[in-house]
Amino acid sequence: MLLHSVMSFGERYGQDSEVFRYKRGKGGIEEVPHLKVVFEYSSPNIAKPFHAGHLRSTVIGHVLANLCEASGHMVTRLNYLGDWGTQFGLLTVGLKRYGNSEALKSSPMEHLFEVYVKVNSDVSREAEGGNKTSTPTQREGLDIFRQLENGDTTYLDQWQELRDLSVKEYRNIYKRLGVWFDEYHGEAMYVRSAQDVINRWRNMGLLEFEKDTGVGYVDMGQHLGHSSRAKVLKSDGTSLYLTRDIAAILDRFERYQFDKIHYVVDSGQVLYFRQMAAVLNRMQTPWLNKVRDTLHVPFGRVDGMSTRRGNVVFLKDILDESKSRMLQTIYSKETSKPVDDVDSVADVLGVSAVIVQGLKEKRQKSYTFSWEKVLNFKSDSGVFLQYSHARLSSLAENCGVSLSEDFSAGCLTEPEAQRLVLHLTGFDTAIHEAYQELEPCILVQYLFKLGHLSNTALSCLQVKGQSTDTAQARLWLFMCSRQTLRNGLHLLGIQPLDKM
Ligand code: ARG
Repeated sequence: MLLHSVMSFGERYGQDSEVFRYKRGKGGIEEVPHLKVVFEYSSPNIAKPFHAGHLRSTVIGHVLANLCEASGHMVTRLNYLGDWGTQFGLLTVGLKRYGNSEALKSSPMEHLFEVYVKVNSDVSREAEGGNKTSTPTQREGLDIFRQLENGDTTYLDQWQELRDLSVKEYRNIYKRLGVWFDEYHGEAMYVRSAQDVINRWRNMGLLEFEKDTGVGYVDMGQHLGHSSRAKVLKSDGTSLYLTRDIAAILDRFERYQFDKIHYVVDSGQVLYFRQMAAVLNRMQTPWLNKVRDTLHVPFGRVDGMSTRRGNVVFLKDILDESKSRMLQTIYSKETSKPVDDVDSVADVLGVSAVIVQGLKEKRQKSYTFSWEKVLNFKSDSGVFLQYSHARLSSLAENCGVSLSEDFSAGCLTEPEAQRLVLHLTGFDTAIHEAYQELEPCILVQYLFKLGHLSNTALSCLQVKGQSTDTAQARLWLFMCSRQTLRNGLHLLGIQPLDKM
C-alpha cells in the first residue's frame, strides 16, 4: 500500500522505483541499463562576473544531475572554468598596476573583476580614435599571454594562484546553493592537447587555412549554411575555445567512458555546439551518435537581474540580497515571533527562492527576474514550498497524536485526502519525466501542486480533537506529504525548513 511505502522508503521514496528500471520497447518490456552520464554545468569565467546565465546553468545542471542519479544512473559532475585566454595577459598587466594582495586574498573574484575593469578602461582611453586591438596596454597583455602559453613559470605560478583563490571562493558559494562538483576542469587543462587534436586534423586532411588571414579551420560541410567553416587555429598557432572544447570532450570520453554527456549552457551557444558536433562528425567519432541529440541542454535568457549594488552581479550579491529581503519580510510581520536562528533561516529561504525561480519555467523560456515574484510566500515560489513544508512539520509537533503504522486508511474518505493520496503516487513518474525531458520544471510544478493540495487538506482535515482512528490516518497522510515534499526539495538542492 502506497502510504506505507512512502514512510518505509523514507528519504529514498521516489528513487528506487520500477518506472525507472523498465520501459516498453519493441520486444515488450525491457530493462533499462544503468548509464554513465556526465553533466557539465556552471562553468563561469575567472575574473569576469558570474552572470545570471551562469546561475541558471548551475541550478538547472545540478538538478538534472540529481534527477539522473535518482533514476539510477552513474553521474559525474563537471565544472569547466573559463581559466584561459588572452584576458589573462591583460589581467596580469592590470594586477601589476592596480593589484592589492590583501583584497585579492579576501575577495578574489571581486578584486580580479575590479582590476580587469580598470585595465580595460586604460585600453579604451589609449584607443580613443585609434585601433583598439593594438594599444600599448593591449600589446603588453598579448605579450604576457604568449609567454604564458609558452609555459613561462613566473606567469604560470601567478595564474595558478588566481585560479586557486577563485575556485576556493566559488566552492563556498556553491555550498550555499547546495551545489557541488566531482571535478573542476578548465580550458587551461587542454591547451597542450588542443595541439594534439590539431595534428590529428592535419593528418586526417581536415585542417585548412584561410588564404588572407592564415586562420586554420575545419570545413563542416554545407548543412550549417554560411558558417560552414569552424575556426580552430589562430594565425599565430595558438588554440581557440572550440579546439580546447574538442580536446576536452575527447579526454572526457577516455576518462569516463560516458554513455551520455550533457552541456548545460545558455541557448546563445546553440550554433557553437552544433559546430562542435559537426567537427566531431568529420573526425568520425564513433560515439557521437549516442550523445548528439542531448549534447547541448540549452536554456533561455534571464533579464533584469540586478541588486542594490547595480547591474554587475556577483552570485554572492544575489544570495545576500535575497537573504536581506527575506529578513525584512520576517521582521515586518507583526503576527509571528521570528524563529531563534532567524539569520540562517533567512539565508536558506533566500537561496530556496533564487533556486526555484531559475527552475519553475521550461528551461528554454526566457524570463525577467523580479524580486517580488521570487520572494512571494503565497504564489508558486521557493518560499511557498518551504512554507508548505514547515506547516507539515509543525503539525507533527503540535497535534498531540503519535504516528502509528497501524492506522486505518479507510478513514481517508474526503476528496481532499483522496486527491492528495493520488498525487503522492505520481512522485516517481514526475522524477522520471523530468529527467527524460531534461526539464526540472516538471518536478517543480509537481511540488507546487503537492504544496497546494496539502495546504488545502490541512485547512479542512483537522487532526487535533478527532477520534484516534481518524487522527492517526490523517497524520500519516500528512507525514507522507511531508516526506515527499522533503525528498523533492532535496532533489532541487534545497535544505527543507521545519520552522520559519
Ligand atoms: N565559460 C563559458 C561561458 O561563460 C561557458 C562554457 C560552456 N562549456 C563549454 N564546454 N564550452 O560562456
